[in-house]
Formats: sequence, C-alpha cells, structure tokens
Amino acid sequence: MNLIFLGAPGAGKGTQAEVVSEALNIPQISTGNILREAAKNGTEYGLKAKAAMDAGALVSDDIVIGILKERIAQDDCKNGFILDGFPRTVPQAEALDAMSIRIDKVIEINVADETIKQRVSGRRVCEGCGASYHVEYKPSKVEGVCDKCGAKTVIRKDDQPEVVLERLATYHEKTAPLKDYYEKQGKLVTVDGQEEVADTSKLTLAAVGAEK
Ligand code: AP5
Repeated sequence: MNLIFLGAPGAGKGTQAEVVSEALNIPQISTGNILREAAKNGTEYGLKAKAAMDAGALVSDDIVIGILKERIAQDDCKNGFILDGFPRTVPQAEALDAMSIRIDKVIEINVADETIKQRVSGRRVCEGCGASYHVEYKPSKVEGVCDKCGAKTVIRKDDQPEVVLERLATYHEKTAPLKDYYEKQGKLVTVDGQEEVADTSKLTLAAVGAEK
C-alpha cells in the first residue's frame, strides 16, 4: 500500500506514520528527517535546506522532489511506502502524479493549532537517530537519552515558539490546499488527532485497514 500522511506541523503525522509503518511493514519516508540528516552532514543541499527549515519556511520544491524520487526508487519501497511530510505543496503533489506512482490513500491527521503549540513545546528529538519523544506524552526511559540509540535528545531548532507560528502559517497557506486536491481524487481520509496517541492510532490503523 502506498500512503501519504498529511497534517499541520506537530499534529502527530510522524507518530502515526511510524505506527502504520510497523503494522504494515513498509518504510516511513520522512522528508523532514532526510533534510535534517543532510543538514547535519553539511551536504550542499543540506546547507541550503537548513536555512529554510530553521526559519519555519519550506525547502524548495526542486530539492525535495529530487530527494523523494531517489528514495522511492530504492528496493525497500517495492511493496509500499508511507510518505511522511511529502507532498507539502500543490506542485509537489503534481510532480508525484507525474511519476505515475499510485497513491492508495491520503491520511490527514487533524488537530487544532492551539493543541499543536502545546504539543510541540514538549517534543524532544534524538540527535543521533532522529527518534521523537514528548516530555509528558511519550518520555524516554532516561530523561535526555534516546531509548533506541543512547544519543542525547534535544529540542528541535524549529520547535521554538516563534518558528512554530511561522510553520503553522506556512502550512495553512501552502499545504492545506492539498486536502482539496486529494479530496477531488477521492483519496482523502481525515483522522481526528486531538485525543491521546493510542486513540489516534486506533483510528489511523482502521483508516488504512490494519486494525489490531
Ligand atoms: P518535518 O520534519 O516534516 O516537520 P513537520 O511537518 O513540521 O512535522 P513535525 O515533525 O513537526 O510534526 P508531526 O506531525 O510529525 O508530529 P509528531 O508526530 O512529531 O519537516 C521539517 C521541515 O523540513 C519543514 O518545516 C520544511 O522546512 C522541511 N520540509 C520537510 N518536508 C518538506 C517538503 N516536502 N517540502 C518542503 N520542505 C519540507 O508529534 C509532535 C509531538 O507531539 C511529539 O512530541 C509527539 O510525541 C507528540 N504527540 C503526537 N501525537 C500526540 C497525541 N495524540 N497526543 C499527545 N501528544 C502527541
């Protein structure tokens, strides 16, 4: 199954994409994680991307579409994949359609902006492997240390309150129109993401036909 996860920054699409990735045994492709890794490694496109990401803006369509084409062509995507954070603009969605890749469903995790601001302030991410935690809702076993790889967990630069406001504005302007785009294709399924992670996961798994 080929899936897209859509939602405002911090709505929980990464959390839900991970749940579905494990349930269906298909890779979760987070363009945000790929870009952060490239920025950390100081690659040419990584450095270009870093400036946009730190300001809460989107990275240029050209860069992201190139990254995605390369990633989707890899062997582990043969039996399906989850796009977490792509497409983010109508031109990116059109580029995906032009690749003639069948998308089965687009899952939108729907959360109010006020809830998002509160959630994002508690997020911690692993410097080493990118795993995501929350100080209240999903704490690591040892504070400040990643359960998966033992590296340090930190606050993402773009989770500072002023940058979160910018990311939300960018989402409403550039990404929210994708709901209409996929609604017209009959692929959009909206999941209520306001509740606890476990409740949202139940709804998400049901939406992709993978109930436990
Ligand atoms: P990206 O990494 O994709 O960030 P984002 O979309 O802003 O999404 P987040 O990772 O902030 O949130 P999420 O919805 O995955 O939430 P999560 O599950 O972590 O992109 C970063 C940047 O890269 C972009 O700003 C842009 O610059 C660039 N970029 C990436 N893709 C691009 C593209 N295609 N085109 C152009 N630029 C691109 O949850 C958030 C927190 O809440 C966590 O701490 C979690 O534990 C907690 N939580 C989750 N669910 C719940 C719940 N139900 N109850 C309580 N807490 C919860």
